[in-house]
Amino acid sequence: MIKIAILGFGNIGSGVAQAIELNQDKIVQATGEKIELKYIVDIADLSASPYCDRVVRDFAVVEQDPEISIVVETIGGQRVAYDYTRRALLAGKNVVTSNKELVSEKGYELQQIAKEKGVNYLFEAAVGGGIPILRPLTQCLAINHIREIYGILNGTTNYILTRMFGENAGFEEALREAQALGYAEANPQADIDGIDACRKIAILADLAFGVNVSPAQIYTEGIRRITVADTEFARQNGYVVKLLGRAVKRADGKIYALVAPHLIEKTRPIAAVSGVFNGICVNGDLVGETMFYGSGAGKLPTASAVTGDILDIVRRQGTCCTASWSEGRADYVADLDEMNLAYFIRVHAQDAVRFQKAFPDAQPFGICGDSAGFLTEVLPTVQVNSRLEALSSKGVEILSKIRKL
Ligand code: HSE
Repeated sequence: MIKIAILGFGNIGSGVAQAIELNQDKIVQATGEKIELKYIVDIADLSASPYCDRVVRDFAVVEQDPEISIVVETIGGQRVAYDYTRRALLAGKNVVTSNKELVSEKGYELQQIAKEKGVNYLFEAAVGGGIPILRPLTQCLAINHIREIYGILNGTTNYILTRMFGENAGFEEALREAQALGYAEANPQADIDGIDACRKIAILADLAFGVNVSPAQIYTEGIRRITVADTEFARQNGYVVKLLGRAVKRADGKIYALVAPHLIEKTRPIAAVSGVFNGICVNGDLVGETMFYGSGAGKLPTASAVTGDILDIVRRQGTCCTASWSEGRADYVADLDEMNLAYFIRVHAQDAVRFQKAFPDAQPFGICGDSAGFLTEVLPTVQVNSRLEALSSKGVEILSKIRKL
């Protein structure tokens, strides 16, 4: 019998308890063992919960109990979660988490502690909810030099974009729905402003390229500036607009890392990822492009990934299967000005001719309402910016500027 503790009994924590109870047969089949939830550590009033007999307030009870070999951290955030995770690892316990904030900020340090102690710190659920991505990336695709990893990493914003621009819902209405469905972060600004996706692409970059990337090194832009006009231009010209996290390896070993809205050709598989679903594409030198797709948020999909990690630990009892990466460097993430990209640009219709003089090779996307859209050729971003600045100084207002994938 494997005894575990769950720290934080909210949406995901209670989902893990439910998953263990519902699918105990699969646990036994996969591991030959049963899993018992011995403790729940939470400060909330859980007296109405069927698990109320297991609630303890003091984490020290878990820390000091030699029967507990696996701790599930679903508290979220950094403060308490960091303290408990550190202490659990130092006490020689395996830790499994869905906490992308903590993994992206402190994962390197916590992984070092796990390695020293010969235990695991696993976080499959931290990226892509229920989608298996970290283990395929670090195991099945380990032979590949990864060239690029990009994806729709935030279910809430993808849900909002799908509802607003495909189905004419208002922003607030779409956000409320995403919250009611349990997709959004406690503070949904983390979703809307791309912060959640930034944490996830940081983790993916750590594992794909083997060097730590901190969220602070990643350019992050959310969905607030996307307008109906942008999506209409996109639609009329065979594109969709999606919020992407991207990490791209350069020939000199540095990477570009960013979160931003992108124009994507409708024919690309990732363009079809709608609603709360996530899609993650990994481009490796041997495998080419692969795509991982599924529920990127939600109670049971996320619990599925958490319990998958638990089972992996049980199966490998006594061994460490933790992936590792090296310490980061300030100059490892390259300046995005150096990135070669095509951009969708929208200007007032009256400025279309002046725009075309500055970007003679840009493809016209037509007129929609009183604005004109263009897709530039692939250019160094610094050049796009300097031409746009020159236009602005002559009174041309740049209404939208969206990268093309
Ligand atoms: N708020 C996150 C999302 C939850 O919407 O994707 C899953 O990480």
